[in-house]
Amino acid sequence: MKKLFITLWVASLAMPTLAQNKATVNAEGATVTINRHIYGHFAEHLGRCIYGGFYVGDNNKTIPNKNGVRLDVVDALKKMKIPNLRWPGGCFADTYHWKDGIGPKAKRPKIVNTWWGGVTEDNSFGTHDFLNMCELLGTEPYLAGNVGSGTVQDLSEWVQYVNFPSNSPMSNLRQQNGRQKPWNVKFWGVGNEAWGCGGNMKPDYYANIYRQYSTFMNSQVGTEKIFRIASGASSDDFNWTETLMKNIPGSMVEGVALHHYSVFGWGENAKGSATEFTETDYAHTMNEALKMDEFVQKHSDIMDKYDPKKKVALVVDEWGAWYNVEPGTNPGFLFQQNTMRDAVLAGATLNIFHKHAERVRMANLAQAINVLQAVILTDGPKMLLTPTYHVLEMYNVHQDATMLPVDVKADEYKVGEYKLPAVSVSASRDKAGKTHISLVNIDAGKPQTITVNLKGISAKSVSGRILTSAKVQDYNTFAQPNKVKPAPFSGAKLTGDELTVTLPPVSVVVLEM
Ligand code: AHR
Repeated sequence: MKKLFITLWVASLAMPTLAQNKATVNAEGATVTINRHIYGHFAEHLGRCIYGGFYVGDNNKTIPNKNGVRLDVVDALKKMKIPNLRWPGGCFADTYHWKDGIGPKAKRPKIVNTWWGGVTEDNSFGTHDFLNMCELLGTEPYLAGNVGSGTVQDLSEWVQYVNFPSNSPMSNLRQQNGRQKPWNVKFWGVGNEAWGCGGNMKPDYYANIYRQYSTFMNSQVGTEKIFRIASGASSDDFNWTETLMKNIPGSMVEGVALHHYSVFGWGENAKGSATEFTETDYAHTMNEALKMDEFVQKHSDIMDKYDPKKKVALVVDEWGAWYNVEPGTNPGFLFQQNTMRDAVLAGATLNIFHKHAERVRMANLAQAINVLQAVILTDGPKMLLTPTYHVLEMYNVHQDATMLPVDVKADEYKVGEYKLPAVSVSASRDKAGKTHISLVNIDAGKPQTITVNLKGISAKSVSGRILTSAKVQDYNTFAQPNKVKPAPFSGAKLTGDELTVTLPPVSVVVLEM
């Protein structure tokens, strides 16, 4: 009897569940665009993100590079279609004095990176290096200005240095440093985490300071105004958003930021290992990640009160998973591995951003290389793509497509105290008329089947790609860089306007119709 029970139980683990999960894609009347800028990234002077990650030095003869920027990285990020890149921080931004990073490299001052590891920052990667790198990547720069320890004049002059065409002290200085044309930078952050590392300010104090700084950030990019982003709330600090929206006139702000990390706790070593975790730990991380939906909704509701026409964007300019650093690495470098857990987290989070595309028009995964939930890891000349990279590359079909609202009724995935939706879904239609549906099976224990009603989509065929692996703990290493990589997917069946999809445990699928 006991043997029969165990046999049935084991068989049930291997079998797809009955199709309980249901979704309806509503194509009719869809008008909201998924702004490509929600696929943005973040590069801070932190650990090996810039030095060793993006930049290996102008005189490096062993790693192929252009002006010190690694070409393997450029190639990978272009394939992923990176739309924007935030720099130079993070916390570092509020210690950064941009004039330290221009002019002859040998003459640039060396400073101590007080936030991240106390290492020497020689300023060899500065404004020209970053903005030229963005041109090489075909990505839009997003510069984060120093409000915490800088001055209004410094930030105002940085705007002039990079954006004024000619005949001003700052454009003349830029030209002396070898760059004739302005770079025309549109995205500007006015400080970072002003409630914390950016100056420990109270919201009403920051709102006033913001007004002062933004007044002097007076530049156009072509015919457009620059896009100024106020330092935003952390996770559920709704009072921060309320105070900013109440006190900053709409004419002075184009975006309000939000940061949300999926983390167990902020104590040292309280964050758990990036690779050695239980299914309960996985569910805990996903529970934190899925809070993004509620946070974005509530911050948006507050913004709606003051800005019902949704002119001001919600900019989630730091998001992702944060674990303990890899054993033996500098605790100030935030270097962590990246598993299928992170791929599922990325897929589900991007689906949340799609759902809120009307208000969330920009976001930045933290961070691009060798730091936190990175898309690329490097080790000297070696480079690998993480499972998170593959999700962002697979999802890039949604960039600038029309969001198709999806109603999802998902089964429950229950682990210990955590009750999560088993699947997450989003959809869009691109300019060529192709519909893409992204599906994530969050359930680590069993496959999930979902039926998707395609209202108003006359699909003739379906094809797709899948990212999955035997275990949620699987990841890529320099010895095995392709252990986790996308593969063709044949688990979707189209019958009339109904799609039935069976998703293996912890998988991310993108379908094209
Ligand atoms: O991304 C790492 C750090 O996290 C950033 O510097 C800061 O803004 C946040 O607290």
